[in-house]
Amino acid sequence: MAKNKTIYVCQACGASSGKWAGQCPDCGQWNSLEERRPPPAAPADSGRLGGYSGVVSPVQAIGAVSLDEVARISTGLAEFDRVLGGGLVPGSVVLIGGDPGVGKSTGLLQVACALGSRQPVLYVSGEESPRQIAMRSRRLGLPQEGVMLLAETVVENILATAEEVKPAVLVIDSIQTMQVGALASAPGSVTQVREAAALLTRFAKQSGIAVFLVGHVTKSGDLAGPRVLEHIIDVVCYFEGNLDSRYRMLRAVKNRYGAVNELGVFAMTDKGLKEISNPSAIFLSRQEEVTPGSLVTALWEGSRPLLVEMQALVDESRAEIPRRLAVGLDNSRLAMLLAVLHRHGRLATYDRDVFINVVGGVKVSETSADLPLLLAVASSLRNRALPGDLVVFGEVGLAGEIRPVLNGQERLREAKKHGFRRAVLPKANAPREKMAGMEITTVSRLEQALEIL
Ligand code: TYD
Ligand code: MG
Repeated sequence: MAKNKTIYVCQACGASSGKWAGQCPDCGQWNSLEERRPPPAAPADSGRLGGYSGVVSPVQAIGAVSLDEVARISTGLAEFDRVLGGGLVPGSVVLIGGDPGVGKSTGLLQVACALGSRQPVLYVSGEESPRQIAMRSRRLGLPQEGVMLLAETVVENILATAEEVKPAVLVIDSIQTMQVGALASAPGSVTQVREAAALLTRFAKQSGIAVFLVGHVTKSGDLAGPRVLEHIIDVVCYFEGNLDSRYRMLRAVKNRYGAVNELGVFAMTDKGLKEISNPSAIFLSRQEEVTPGSLVTALWEGSRPLLVEMQALVDESRAEIPRRLAVGLDNSRLAMLLAVLHRHGRLATYDRDVFINVVGGVKVSETSADLPLLLAVASSLRNRALPGDLVVFGEVGLAGEIRPVLNGQERLREAKKHGFRRAVLPKANAPREKMAGMEITTVSRLEQALEIL
């Protein structure tokens, strides 16, 4: 007979070990191990939480698998559909993560109401009362048809209700408030989050009901129990955006049904989230006069270009170790690029503070912002403004070489559409044909780019 041994589960990463320790041996988190006694050995045929389920799935030839059922459900919000890869797949589980107050509940309520007129939706909230949710939906003027509300936190009860109501889409707000009745640990703990998500996922796959899960992000920027969740869920999206600004970006970081890094852009208004179908226009804070240290670049987000303004401020430092701070960019990449600027561009910043900001709360994860970043730094350092109709993109290598980026043509076209007349870009990205109304300068070395400006 197997021994009923106590195990210790890390509440941060979900790793389990046989003995207690002050620090999780897996993720290094302190004081995160929690005792967990396995439930008494269940009879072999009642594997409700894992184990043998009693149903044997048939083997199918890959070519014979029917694909009819992958018809996607449009959420009614085009930007949402874009992030999901063209709509919601029946039976899929989509996790919407983000900071508290970023707009997860608002966004999903809008989606639920937009869907409701075509398909029944069950919106389950463990955080707000049906009254609160109904009030919000009426204030936002959302259609009310076909949306059912449920205030419940016990997953088994939710599934029983869902089986009865038979919605096409089930919204769970939020996964951290849910608990599996059969488990003893507190809601929000890794064990509960994982088991609740696993039960809901299994339900989605069996019933063909699409499930949205809301997930809160912890202070350190992780979804609580992220590693234990991400592998069971089909689509993981994050709501990004500075809470001070109106703009919210929804980004897919994992998608079994579409491309990742697809970006949907919204603005939070008094009527809820509004889609922004032409995002380039809003991230360009066009001032009357151009200031030193400011430069526009063309990013590539998912499947479309996005023009954003980058700002650099280089100032004399009074600190022993000068500050390097990048908002919307990786700090270590900034440090590396400044070293390249010193070595190959002969511009020293070691005695200065360098601050970088990407306007509008956009997060840049692409190397095409290297060159514009360094030119913005150079512009601020020399206190000379760059032309307002200039757009720059290109990756900078450690040897000071300028490397090509993907989709150069489309980026150029987008810039032209928004009234840019000059461009500096990598030599290998030079357009094959001349672009009317666009003065294009290609560079292959950082020195060249600095010289031109
Ligand atoms: P919410 O969707 O409740 O956030 P989450 O579920 O991610 O925690 O959004 C709450 C914030 O959105 C709150 O700060 C107020 C703001 N908001 C608006 O600005 N306009 C609106 O119409 C609504 C509903 C919310
Ligand atoms: Mg909420």
